[in-house]
Amino acid sequence: MKGIILAGGAGTRLYPLTMVTSKQLLPVYDKPMIYYPLSVLMLAGIREILIISTPVDLPNFERLLGDGSKFGIRLSYAVQETPNGLAQAFVIGEKFIDGDACALALGDNIFYGSGLSHILKKAAIEADAGAATIFGYYVKDPQRFGIMDVDANGNIKSVVEKPRFPKSNYCITGLYFYPNDVVDFAKKVRPSSRGEYEITSLNALYLRKRRLKGKVLGRGFAWLDTGTVDSLMQAAEFVQMTEARQGVKISAPEEIAYHYGWISKEKLVETAEKYGASPYGKHLMNVAEGKLIY
Ligand code: G1P
Repeated sequence: MKGIILAGGAGTRLYPLTMVTSKQLLPVYDKPMIYYPLSVLMLAGIREILIISTPVDLPNFERLLGDGSKFGIRLSYAVQETPNGLAQAFVIGEKFIDGDACALALGDNIFYGSGLSHILKKAAIEADAGAATIFGYYVKDPQRFGIMDVDANGNIKSVVEKPRFPKSNYCITGLYFYPNDVVDFAKKVRPSSRGEYEITSLNALYLRKRRLKGKVLGRGFAWLDTGTVDSLMQAAEFVQMTEARQGVKISAPEEIAYHYGWISKEKLVETAEKYGASPYGKHLMNVAEGKLIY
């Protein structure tokens, strides 16, 4: 199974914060935003990940994350020349995907909750077996998102992008798992009325073939988007509060890699030292020394 992180877009809603840097490189409290979706894909067990961004920003992602060896994974990079839709990620990534199943994580979505890795691994298994999975989250402002309507048995009835009159409050979050024909399906997507290759149109194609599953993430999960200055601040506050209270780090990819046995203790220490005296670096050092028991 492969994974893609889409980290493009102009981020105009965050100007001037994003005038000279990518939104997905901005801090969410103690680490760059992209660490969060990267951790989510790793938690699903995915070790080959493609990062897609703008021609200007891509080199910065590469400087930050490198070839992925410090996370025990393989990272590749690709450019999206113009931000004309999320479904384009699979067309851009065709060579990288190379006929595998593939997950897509939006670079500005944050997921946190107990049992997340189990749910993600299940979606990866479903994708290998031919079914796509999307994740729903109850929100009070459904007009802002892609929305899924589900029947009493949990089957998806419809998926609609930013509906004026939403049929439900279940937002489709920015994390999607697809089977190995995703590139063919993505090529069939036609631009929407706003001129974009919508991820919701891709999901609708799978729904029509009865190959789309919806998993609702309940109240015990946090799903945060960071698209506005307020939601960015709130996400940082959530991370700060949870980490300070519990002494954990939310979405530390090196820690996940170490626990999954993808990197050695020596590699973890080497990386921790590079982060210097920062709280993040100290945390990794504590992990290496076995000081944290969950
Ligand atoms: C995108 C998707 C939308 C989804 C949202 C989640 O919207 O098009 O379906 O609900 O991400 O973050 P955007 O944030 O690009 O407007």
